[in-house]
Amino acid sequence: MTRPARARIDRSALRHNYALARQMHGGRALAVIKANAYGHGAVPCAHALQDLVDGFAVAFVGEAMALREAGITAPILVLEGAFDTDDWLQAAERRLWMVVHQSRQLEQLSQLPPHCRYEKLWLKIDSGMHRAGFAPEDVAPAWAQLHALQRTDEVVLMTHFARADEPTEPMTPAQLATFQTCTQGLAAPISVSNSAGVLAWPDARADWARPGIMLYGSHPIGASASAPLQPVMTLQSEVFAERWIAPGETVGYGGRFVAPRRTRVGLVAMGYADGYPRTVADGTPVAVDGHVTQLIGRVSMDMLTIDLTDHPHAGPGSTVELWGPQISVDTVAKSAGTIAYELLCNTKRVSFEYL
Ligand SMILES: Cc1ncc(COP(=O)(O)O)c(C=O)c1O
Repeated sequence: MTRPARARIDRSALRHNYALARQMHGGRALAVIKANAYGHGAVPCAHALQDLVDGFAVAFVGEAMALREAGITAPILVLEGAFDTDDWLQAAERRLWMVVHQSRQLEQLSQLPPHCRYEKLWLKIDSGMHRAGFAPEDVAPAWAQLHALQRTDEVVLMTHFARADEPTEPMTPAQLATFQTCTQGLAAPISVSNSAGVLAWPDARADWARPGIMLYGSHPIGASASAPLQPVMTLQSEVFAERWIAPGETVGYGGRFVAPRRTRVGLVAMGYADGYPRTVADGTPVAVDGHVTQLIGRVSMDMLTIDLTDHPHAGPGSTVELWGPQISVDTVAKSAGTIAYELLCNTKRVSFEYL
């Protein structure tokens, strides 16, 4: 028997979520498929979306090249921009759109051979996150320098939000105000919204959006905000052994779970080496043959244990959903003290099936 740990990727859900993001945004939207499409498989996801999208966004040139080599012809924006001259050369050859977020990149650009041109260059502004981007006072000179280099027909002005997933925090309006002030008078399309921007900040819905996590069905703000996103990844496996234990006996490493009653323990072929987080608490929901039960005991490298006491029909061969349509990846992430982004990106060793 083949080990049954698998990730099933629902491409129609991905298409649905992209269409919803684009419709909510009301403008053009780049599907963010960096980090192997947040762990879902960049090439198959790009193929599934290609006829629908205005373009894609990835982190670095290598990720974009892999998509081009797989036959993806849609525009691709490189969010970290060039690391060196080689990146710029490859980007010109492969028709990539590049983010320019620091003066080092302007210098590199100035030293390229004359034939290196780019359909669009995206000038990134640090409106308060203090990660990447030109400081507000440097925007006008960078804009002038970029135009003087004559490497592109269009500059897009962009920024990135630090706290858009916190709808009552004043930081997002402050970032928007900073962005508006320092770009005043610069005639260019703009791009400010990630998923949380699209979902929660109508004022940020202008020109180009860059939704990522919402494409995969995870809601960055939580269940309170309503958008009918569909989960794309179902992480599932099977029960492959079972045993009864007496009250007071423990399960797994560290004896963390102590049985409060006679308990039937189901052993599931899924562990932290597959990407299921070791840090989840006892009681984290899982679904066995469509019924919700809970994780008991610490997650091991290759296995985890669940409570089958109240599920007499479940046993070896039963399907277990770790996250997907029945168990929200956001719930599991919360139990693990992290975010769905990290869980989805870390899925590995399991087999992937594309629906
Ligand atoms: C510059 C930029 N834009 C957009 C995104 C997509 O963000 P999200 O997945 O929260 O929608 C990211 C993700 O990290 C990013 O770095």
